[in-house]
Formats: sequence, C-alpha cells, structure tokens
Amino acid sequence: MNSVESMDQTAREIMHANDKGGYTVPTHGLYPYQWNWDSAFAAYGFAQFDVERAWLELETLFSAQWDNGMVPHIIFHQQDAGYFPGPDVWQGIGPIPSSGISQPPIAATMAKLVYDKDPEMGKKRIGALYDKMIAWHQWFMDWRLDNDAVCITHPWEAGRDNAPDWDIAMAAIEPEGVGEYTRRDTTHVDSSMRPTKYDYDRYIWLVKRGVALGWDDAAMLDNTPFRVADPTMTFTLLRAQRDLADFGRMLGKDVTTTEAAIKQLEAGAQSLWNPELASYDSRDVNSEQWSGAISNASFLCWYAGLEAPEMKSVLNDVMSTVKYGVPSLDTRNEKFDAKRYWRGPVWPMFNNLIAMGLDEMGMQEGTMLRQSTADLIMEHGFSEYFDPLDGSPAGGKTFTWTAAIWLGWASPTAGAN
Ligand code: SER
Repeated sequence: MNSVESMDQTAREIMHANDKGGYTVPTHGLYPYQWNWDSAFAAYGFAQFDVERAWLELETLFSAQWDNGMVPHIIFHQQDAGYFPGPDVWQGIGPIPSSGISQPPIAATMAKLVYDKDPEMGKKRIGALYDKMIAWHQWFMDWRLDNDAVCITHPWEAGRDNAPDWDIAMAAIEPEGVGEYTRRDTTHVDSSMRPTKYDYDRYIWLVKRGVALGWDDAAMLDNTPFRVADPTMTFTLLRAQRDLADFGRMLGKDVTTTEAAIKQLEAGAQSLWNPELASYDSRDVNSEQWSGAISNASFLCWYAGLEAPEMKSVLNDVMSTVKYGVPSLDTRNEKFDAKRYWRGPVWPMFNNLIAMGLDEMGMQEGTMLRQSTADLIMEHGFSEYFDPLDGSPAGGKTFTWTAAIWLGWASPTAGAN
C-alpha cells in the first residue's frame, strides 16, 4: 500500500506533468487540449500548493469565451492529431479555436475554493473574472432553459457523454451524412470503456448540425432533435449562481439579476423531480419523457443548496450496492455497465461535488463518501474513473481531476498541504 505522503507527491507530479503552461490537459493522449470543467478542478488542485497558478488556469479558460458569453467545453490551443473531433471539425466561432458547446459551470464554485486560499490575491483575480462569469451564466439563462431547468444540446455538454439520460433523444437522431471518420479515443483506451459507434455517429452528427447553423443559438433551437433538461447542468448552475452572488456582494456589485436567476433555477430543479422514480432525473424536452435513471448527477441536489431530504435514502440504497460510491448509474438499472464511462463507473471528482453538498447539509454520508474515494484512489491510483464494484481503474491514467480532488479533498492531508 502506498503511503499518504507518496500519494500526495504523486498527485502533485501528475498536475505538473499535465501542465502545459497556462492550462492543464486532463491527461496526455486521450484528451490533449484544455477542457472546461477539468480546468476548474485543476485550479482547485493547484490552489493546494500554488494559488497563482490556480488563477491562471481559470483566466486561460475564460480567454476563450465567445462574444455571446458561452465558454467552450474544449479549447484547442494547438493542433494534436491524437484527438477526434478536432478544431477543423468543430469550427468554433470564438477568439481561440474551440468546440461549439459548453460544459457544467463549476468555475465560479471552484474559484471560491481558490479564493479562500488567499483572499487578498483572490479579490483582485476574481474582480477581473467576475463579469465574464456573469456573462457565461446569463448565456445559460438566455438559451438553455426549459421549465427553468437547464438543458443540454449535445451529450458532451453535460460532461456525462454516454449516460442513459440521453438515450431517448439519441434514438430520435438519424445520423445521415456523418460519413467516414476515425475515432482516436479507442486507440488510447479499451473500447469496452468508451461510448459505442452508435453514440459516436450521433455525437458527430450533432457537431455537424451546429457547424451548419454557424453555432447560432436561436437557429440551433429550431427543430432540434436533441434537447434534454439535465440535473448536472441545473444543479451546477444553481450552485455557481449562489457562489457568484457571494463574490458580487463581496465586490460591491448589484446582484439582483443573479438572485432572480437563483429563484428561477430553484423552481427549475423541481421540474426534474420524477415522482415515479422518486428521484431527480433527466427529462427529454421533445418527447416529454423521463430517462428513468438515478445517476450520480441526481445527487448534486445538496451541492445545489437544496435540502432534498427524500434523496438521502435513495443515496444510501445506491451506495449499499457498490464497494466504492457513488456509481454514475444505479446498479439496479438494467443499463448499468460497470466499466463503460458514464453508464456505471464511479468518478472521484463527482464524489467530491456530491460530498461538498452533503457536508454543507450536515449529513454524515459526506464523510463516508470521502473515505470511500480516498480508499479507491489509494488502492487503485489516479485514473479517470473506476469500476464501482471492484475498483478496477478505467479510462485515462494519471488524470488531472483525480489528482486535484485527491489534494483538495480526498487525501487525509487535504487542507493541510
Ligand atoms: N468527453 C468527450 C470525449 O471523450 C469530449 O468532451 O472526447
């Protein structure tokens, strides 16, 4: 067994090895660019030993912001033949080559954790980022709401690429005209751990649709086959708006608009309550059908600041079926697949977000989840995700966000280093 000290050391080495200067790749090979929410976690990790570098990570992320406020999910700072689809396929319309969709907005929340490490430095740095964060959050409010819940326009936008949450919407797509393409992900990782060709055809079809429409938000809304109201987006934006409102008050800004957005998103969160499942769920906007999936995103309700007492027994039930919680899909769901990306594996960074909410609500499950995640990483390393039944590592190795949350949260020394 590794010692805690050697794990801390390895985590810092991973962060340094994945550091490209102003930004960090999630892992070399599989993901060779800057990813949006990966970078927010990277900032959190860096803040444990280099607060200056943490702010730089967020500043580089926001340097790719589009004129409409959108902050892209991938930023292609340089070309890399090892990833598909690259900048030539996406044809983003921002100041730096990028994808055309966003990702769960956790940057304001992670910025708060970075800020706490050095408030004096933090006040200056958040002062310069604040308006950019406001514009990004407003873009979600303007373009992504259905019944006040936040929708995604592509499975990659939720970050949970092949979750069963999108199966109904994906089935409505006939991926005509996608043509021949070569996947790169399966040259880095075993295909049993990655989405299927059926999924990829639809991912690429949706990208091509966005390109054909010039990534125009209004045009993309017309007759879209893919629009799913999603707990990942709704809960992370609700939380991020609360944190941004706190920053705004600290900076002496008028936060009326953000406070109104919080009320709206609180109502939206309730539109994701599936009474039959007795859980938060995803809702396909076009067919008005529930996905019927209890996912790890369902348990971000506390992170969003909702009391949600009815979710406590759901969490305990789901955690009792696995060795390392929380699985990305309830093991009792017929679509559960222990190794296939977002259809079963456990993701340490997701556990961190869930536990933040549990701790803030004073629920002891937060401590249990931290211990379970610490055991998982100690025993099985810093991979992207893991089989929740036996802990086998899966996906990319030496992963930035796993190292980051080890340093910031899971390590027994977290907070002290
Ligand atoms: N997660 C996607 C991929 O696997 C992109 O965000 O490439």
